[in-house]
Amino acid sequence: MLPVEGGLGNEPLLAVDNLHVEFHTRAGIVRAVNGVSYTVNPGETLAVLGESGSGKSVTAQAIMGILDMPPARIPKGEIRFKGTDVLKLSEEARTQVRGQRIAMIFQDALSALNPVFTVGWQISEMFRVHRGMSKGDAMKKAVELMDRVRIPAARQRVNDYPHQFSGGMRQRIMIAMSIALDPEVLIADEPTTALDVTVQAQIMELLAELQRESQMGLILITHDLGVVADVADKIAVMYAGRIVENAPVHDIYRVPAHPYTKGLLESIPRVDQKGQDLYAIKGLPPNLLELPSGCSFNPRCPYRQGNCETDVPPLHQISGTRGSACHYWREVLDGDR
Ligand SMILES: Nc1ncnc2c1ncn2[C@@H]1O[C@H](COP(=O)(O)OP(=O)(O)O)[C@@H](O)[C@H]1O
Ligand SMILES: [Mg+2]
Repeated sequence: MLPVEGGLGNEPLLAVDNLHVEFHTRAGIVRAVNGVSYTVNPGETLAVLGESGSGKSVTAQAIMGILDMPPARIPKGEIRFKGTDVLKLSEEARTQVRGQRIAMIFQDALSALNPVFTVGWQISEMFRVHRGMSKGDAMKKAVELMDRVRIPAARQRVNDYPHQFSGGMRQRIMIAMSIALDPEVLIADEPTTALDVTVQAQIMELLAELQRESQMGLILITHDLGVVADVADKIAVMYAGRIVENAPVHDIYRVPAHPYTKGLLESIPRVDQKGQDLYAIKGLPPNLLELPSGCSFNPRCPYRQGNCETDVPPLHQISGTRGSACHYWREVLDGDR
């Protein structure tokens, strides 16, 4: 169990608890999420980190209630928003929570804007549809929001079309739409992946500023440990649909407690090592139709020993705020490989 982190009595703002998601396909059952637990509190940033295919987006889609079921199934687990399991809510209550109190910026956000409507129209639609505002009032709110996400000359640009904006500005528009209804939790799924490095940093800074203003809980999904270092409070590292390590961000950077995290850290480009080959984790992510027995990471792991191929490691609580799902976390912490 994770320690209680305060905020709402004993309940975190959002708690994913032992979530399982599987897809029933012709080829078999794809076990995309296998017992994920994480929490986020007001004003807190959780980074969810892992290679492509580790189940980060599927977990977020389960939170948002946007998985197609079937083929998806949630055989086990809870998703509690302020203590209430949203998986058990009525359809009507659910749509109030998801999309309004919990909002999401999608992974392919840059292509999500409609090319034939002005950005002002698209932002103001949030207020017309969900708040029943008049066109004029909704348009004023759209300008306000464009200001809030620091789009220069918002009053003029509100009448421009998506193609008239740069990638970074389009992402600001998507962020404006996601925060339009003042969500308490914002999930940003790879919000900077399509952007160049300078713009990535600006978007991260914007998300951090918006969060400071509103005290949202922020879940930042990324495959890039480099982009979250400055903004995250804590990190949950996912591999093959499981959390393999969770810890405050500084602990992870100081010394990882799972061989997979260690591999990820060693693959971050460093300015002081220009020209050197990056260490990349050897081998391929596992086939989710046929997970390796024991620890899913064992075929790629430099710390592997006999029982790694037979026993699934539980998430060992190695301090009050830190867990590692490695039988040999002590050796990893000691860094002797
Ligand atoms: N509709 C689907 N049908 C079958 N498999 C799916 C479906 N959606 C996602 N998956 C699988 O679930 C796994 C996790 O995907 P995802 O959460 O998108 O990974 P990521 O960590 O890159 O966000 C992947 O192997 C993906 O192929
Ligand atoms: Mg994804």
